[in-house]
Amino acid sequence: MSSAQKLYKKITTNSLYEMKQLGESIAMLTAYDFSLARLVDKSGIDVILVGDSASNVMAGHETTLPITLDHMIYHASSVVKAVKRALVVVDLPFGSYQGNPKEALSSSIRIMKESGGHAVKLEGGNEIATTIERIVGSGIPVMGHLGLTPQSIYKFGTYAVRAKEEEEAEKLLADAKSLENAGCFAIVLEKIPAGLAKKVSESIQIPTIGIGAGPHTNGQVLVLHDMLGMNTEFNPRFLRRYLNLEKLIPEAIESYIDDVKSQDFPNKEESY
Ligand code: KIV
Repeated sequence: MSSAQKLYKKITTNSLYEMKQLGESIAMLTAYDFSLARLVDKSGIDVILVGDSASNVMAGHETTLPITLDHMIYHASSVVKAVKRALVVVDLPFGSYQGNPKEALSSSIRIMKESGGHAVKLEGGNEIATTIERIVGSGIPVMGHLGLTPQSIYKFGTYAVRAKEEEEAEKLLADAKSLENAGCFAIVLEKIPAGLAKKVSESIQIPTIGIGAGPHTNGQVLVLHDMLGMNTEFNPRFLRRYLNLEKLIPEAIESYIDDVKSQDFPNKEESY
């Protein structure tokens, strides 16, 4: 058990800020449903992200763009019911906040009221700083997201590493400071060079949480289904797999089919 697991009975945005000061890495994973969120929370994770990656992982879409606010609220409310300790952060989906700060605030309020989530996450830099101020000003904690922001995939044209060139790296650093000033409590840094992630993490007071951003961020996040090995065709360099469910689940299902076909299941003890 880590010192944070001993220290914090319930994780808040303040706990994450304290963890950065104490040099304790923040562990974050995604979850989208009650059953897995229950196991993730029981294992002692600090933050559960109800990510719009649900669009890929749960619904089979190619991008995160199609998922709606209603879908996100459905996933988040299932997760919240299972969670006792972790901070639950919910992604604002594409199209629910880019229009104007008022629209972003009403989407955030719907998430907080209808799902019971503890915070929202938005993708973007300085261009959404006013929006973030508006949401934070109404009492809703906001997590930022810089670097590879999948909701902008058609602008980028590729899922390659971002901010390798100096100009984009400087903009990202300025964006991180702008998000901090706007009131974000943490920032996800996705797929950027490790050196840049280190510089950003050292330049701001709020914690950074990396995915494909190297070891110097103040925490790490992975998509749960990726780290459990549900789809071994998805193979980014940053992904460490802790299980091979793509092998284990079909093996279990094949055994069940064999047992049914051979009429071994159910046996006497399994019958009333
Ligand atoms: O939606 C998501 O899962 C995310 C993580 C990759 C950070 O935003």
